[in-house]
This record gives sequence, C-alpha cells and structure tokens, in this order.
Amino acid sequence: MRCPHLPDGFDFTDPDLLQARVPHPEFALMRETAPVWWCTQPPHISGFGDEGYWAVTRHADVKYVSTHPELFSSNTNTSVIRFNETISRDQIDVQKLIMLNIDWSNKMAAYDDPEYAITEEVGAEAAMEIVAYSMNLAAARKECPAEEIVRWATPVVSFQRTATQDLELGGQRIRKGERVGLFYSSANNDPEVFDSPDVFDITRDPNPHLGFGGGGPHFCLGKSLAVMEIDLIFHAIADVLPDLRLLEDPRRLRSAWLNGIKQLQVTTAPPPAA
Ligand code: HEM
Repeated sequence: MRCPHLPDGFDFTDPDLLQARVPHPEFALMRETAPVWWCTQPPHISGFGDEGYWAVTRHADVKYVSTHPELFSSNTNTSVIRFNETISRDQIDVQKLIMLNIDWSNKMAAYDDPEYAITEEVGAEAAMEIVAYSMNLAAARKECPAEEIVRWATPVVSFQRTATQDLELGGQRIRKGERVGLFYSSANNDPEVFDSPDVFDITRDPNPHLGFGGGGPHFCLGKSLAVMEIDLIFHAIADVLPDLRLLEDPRRLRSAWLNGIKQLQVTTAPPPAA
C-alpha cells in the first residue's frame, strides 16, 4: 500500500487547482490510502470559519453519506463546499434559503471566476427559474451516451454535507459539525466499481456513476432534463458538424467545485487530404 502523501497545503477545493486540472492522480492515491482524509484549510478560506473538511473519495462512502441525511446534513452549511473568504455567515444562510447551492448557469455557479461576477439578486432569480423548469419535466429517454458522458466528465466535482452527530466513516472519527466533502469525480473513477474507469465507454452497463449525486433526498432534480439535453446536443453535433476537431487545449473555469470549460477552440472544416 502506498503512503498517503500529498504536498503540504494540498486542497481538493483549491480553485486554482481545478482551473488547471481535475486532480485524478491525487484522488486515486486517497482512495487507496486514506479514503476519508482530513484536509486542513487556513481558517475562513472557505467562508465557513472552520479548519477544513473530510474528503470522501470512494464510491461506496460517497453513496453512504448521500443516503443518510439524518447523519449528514446539507442544510447546516449548504451543499457548496467552498465559498470565499469574503462571504459572511449571514450571506451563507441567505444562499441556503434561496437554494443557491443548486446553480447551473455561469451567473450562479462561477463566483470564483472574475469573468463571471454577479449580484446575489440575479443569482437567486436564475436559480428559482431553473428549479421551476426542472420540476415540470417528464422523464427523459433511457439508454443514451449521456450517462457515460456525465461519468467521464463529472461536471460537479464535489458537494458537501455536515455531520449531525459524532460518528465513524471509513475508519475515521468524525465530530458533529465537521464538514464532509463528497468527491463525485473520485467516486466515478473508483476501480472497485468501474472496470477500466479511465476508458470512455458509452456501452457501459450498468453504469452506477454518481455524477448526479449519490442517491438520497438531494439527488439531482434536473437529471432527466440534463440527460435529454446532452443526448440531443451530441447527436446534433455529430449530424451537423461531422468534422469537428479540437484546435487547442480548453480554457478552464476557475471554481472550487465545478469541472467547467469556458472556451474550446475547434474547427469544423474537413481535415486536409493526406
Ligand atoms: C449534467 C448536468 C447536471 C449535473 C452533473 C448535475 C449534478 C447534480 C448533483 C451532483 C447534485 C447534488 C446531489 C446531492 O447533493 O446528493 C444535483 C442536485 C440538484 N440538481 Fe443537478 N445536475 C445537472 C443538471 C441539472 C439541471 C439541468 C437542473 C435543473 C433544471 C438541476 C437541478 C438540480 C437541483 C434542483 C438539485 C438539488 C436537489 C436537492 O438539493 O434536493 N440539475 N445535481
């Protein structure tokens, strides 16, 4: 077994880290050596005024926490694992009330990125519109590449819960009030659950990925819409732009918990004849 060793100060919610890459090698190390790992943070860096959080990286543990809301609350500190140093406790409580922890547009989700700064009011309005829309949707079609696309990309790297009592998880003692990060990006690459997790395979069946959450009461309300949209978008791209090719590396979003792309340079021209 390898030693659990990450560089001093390493933090899975560091927005600069996620702007550069998703830390898959570090997730693999933690799954293998310290699947429930205490990540120390400088006080107030996340907005919660504490000293860090537990990083949960194995599929089974992410599922366990998600399906035991009586032990792990998403209300105490919201589901957002890291705000920033300038947010006050009152502002976090406002976010709780208006469900800003479920935001999907640039305006709502990307407060860490200077290109997408917004006011609280605009974010709240957008959140409520999206929630209302998702609730009116019928079930989406099954069996499409979208599930593997979501596993592979895992757009939401992590959300969090807060322990409601002293308890044990993965051999670690967690105290009431401590935050627990659910690292979906890691769970979705857990070799205990997925054969060759680093292979993109749209025929995977079953595909029990946790890209929309680990089950339980907070499971993604918009999953059906998201799956349908991805299915339609990728089929349309394949039909209309068959020669789509990447020109350069993407420009990534600076975020503490989203795996986002801001810009992707492509060409739609047929490749030059050999
Ligand atoms: C690929 C796109 C999407 C991904 C990867 C995604 C992922 C997630 C995840 C990981 C959660 C947290 C589950 C948990 O805490 O247990 C969540 C919750 C939620 N999502 Fe999605 N989602 C997507 C699209 C959408 C869309 C399009 C909508 C609305 C139209 C939506 C609405 C929600 C809502 C309302 C919740 C909160 C449910 C609750 O707290 O009870 N999502 N989503």
